[in-house]
Amino acid sequence: MEIRKWITEKEFATYPEITMAEAKKSMAVCVDKVDAMLKDFTDAFPGPASENNYYVPGPNRSWTSGFWTGEVWLAYENAASPAQKDRFLEAGQRQMASFLERIRTHNDVDHHDMGFMFSPSCVAGYKLTGALTGREAAILAADQLLTRFQPIGGFLQAWGEMGAPDNYRFIIDCLCNLPLLYWASEETGDPGYREIAEKHLHTAMSYVIREDDSTWHTVFMNPATGEFDHGATCQGFRDGSAWARGQAWGVYGTAMAYRYTRKEEYLLAFRRVTGYFLRHLPKDLCPFWDLTFGNGDEKTQPRDSSSAVIAACGLLQMSRLLEDDEAAWCISGAAKLLKAMADGYQSVDSSKSSGQLLHGTYSRKSPYNTCTQEGVDECVIWGDYYFMEGLQRFLSPEWKIYW
Ligand code: GLY
Repeated sequence: MEIRKWITEKEFATYPEITMAEAKKSMAVCVDKVDAMLKDFTDAFPGPASENNYYVPGPNRSWTSGFWTGEVWLAYENAASPAQKDRFLEAGQRQMASFLERIRTHNDVDHHDMGFMFSPSCVAGYKLTGALTGREAAILAADQLLTRFQPIGGFLQAWGEMGAPDNYRFIIDCLCNLPLLYWASEETGDPGYREIAEKHLHTAMSYVIREDDSTWHTVFMNPATGEFDHGATCQGFRDGSAWARGQAWGVYGTAMAYRYTRKEEYLLAFRRVTGYFLRHLPKDLCPFWDLTFGNGDEKTQPRDSSSAVIAACGLLQMSRLLEDDEAAWCISGAAKLLKAMADGYQSVDSSKSSGQLLHGTYSRKSPYNTCTQEGVDECVIWGDYYFMEGLQRFLSPEWKIYW
């Protein structure tokens, strides 16, 4: 399918794009919000989701902790004054030390989310400042991620005890953990990290996209044969529906897959997954938490604004890898999503929320899924981060990415 086709459909085609001036203004608001949060969140970390739109300080324990440090680094890159820049630098350095301690002491790292935790925090800090703390922490995290590899089936096991039959699976989100492995190979010269990433990529891309271009959230593999067993949801509405954020991880994840491999099949996968995502957006471009709700029922179903900004980042990533027209369409699509978020979902008033982006959903319980309910219609820390990353990518197309 041509990208041109989905981007010219209905409301999406006529939706306005964010301008450079608007994006700059939105970024300035974000930077000031990060600055205001530093007093409570330099040595403490926000949890995955806000409570009544305010984050609560806690330890560096979650799979999401790195997104906050990522916001600090994006703020550092966009600081309004040298004094403000120094504050972000100091916070970023202290947080990298916290990540080094976390990985050295093996604190809540028995899962696959090493990329989400260590790329926007430690890889970013190392790239921006040369800090060896960041480099060491991120390489240890990449080593830890390798321990999740299951050779029978060729995938990184997402959760739980290694080999446990009820957890012999990978999840679509993991596509965004792979850049850590590619980075570790580049940085150390050891191809082993990249080889494991490519094995996982091959398995994930073989099974995660369904015939109609929607995606499974989780894919169970047969521990005896290594073959596909079945797909299932955890955080989506039901097994066969398309969890909005899973589809958005697919947009960004397939763009990253193409970035590293330049394989034609991954470009096709990007077009399919992205087309499905964009065709299932409501009129204001902020997805309901599961794309099955389409235009939705505002009264009973919450949105997930974080999915819109993750997809925007994926589109902007892909625009750097494609030729003329198709690249322009990707930029245009991302600019529409960012406009929708800046106009309708960005929190500009600190007296109403400490987050950047309102109306995210972490985990919504349904009668058919297996998650526990958490962070429904709240700010979510990765939504805040990817909103800033999307603005940054839009404002600086040559931005040196953290992943
Ligand atoms: N990676 C877990 C989530 O997106 O909620």
